[in-house]
Amino acid sequence: MSGDEQLRVSKIRNGTVIDHITGGQAMHVLSILGIDGEDGDTLSIVMNAPSDRLGKKDIVKIEDRELSQAELDVLSLIAPEATINIIRDFAVVEKHVVNRPEEVVGVLTCPNRNCITTANEPVASRFEVLDDGVRCCYCDTIVRDDIADLIE
Ligand code: CTP
Ligand code: ZN
Repeated sequence: MSGDEQLRVSKIRNGTVIDHITGGQAMHVLSILGIDGEDGDTLSIVMNAPSDRLGKKDIVKIEDRELSQAELDVLSLIAPEATINIIRDFAVVEKHVVNRPEEVVGVLTCPNRNCITTANEPVASRFEVLDDGVRCCYCDTIVRDDIADLIE
């Protein structure tokens, strides 16, 4: 957002701003990060704001927490254009893009009901990240569409 354009939500003093999230995915971003607001984090969520690049974008601001690159890379599955801004004393001190991780552990639920990870076993889900989807490392089920529906 630039120049004279009115800010929809305030700038933050310290924390993490996840910008350029695919429109409509902000709630999925929060659930992947395990943030539900119940532990008292101050959050701002903007959904479907107009964006030149994306048409519509979501923005999530998490105050007083600096999320790590590894934590944020899983977001590439649902928000590949996301940019991560680390804010200190109102200034953007770091700006990162998300990278596709090689695998994601404990993030997605396998859609195969017979998979060992969905049985009543203490086995964390593990998916290999492909160019066009994800593959369960235990039962080889491949998911290409609607990956957000598998978020645990
Ligand atoms: N931001 C914020 N609080 C601050 C500084 C920045 O909430 N103290 C937010 C801005 O509103 C913006 C994002 O962090 O959503 C990135 O800020 P900035 O780099 O200043 O904006 P742009 O140059 O528009 O970013 P980009 O080039 O990534 O589009
Ligand atoms: Zn499986």
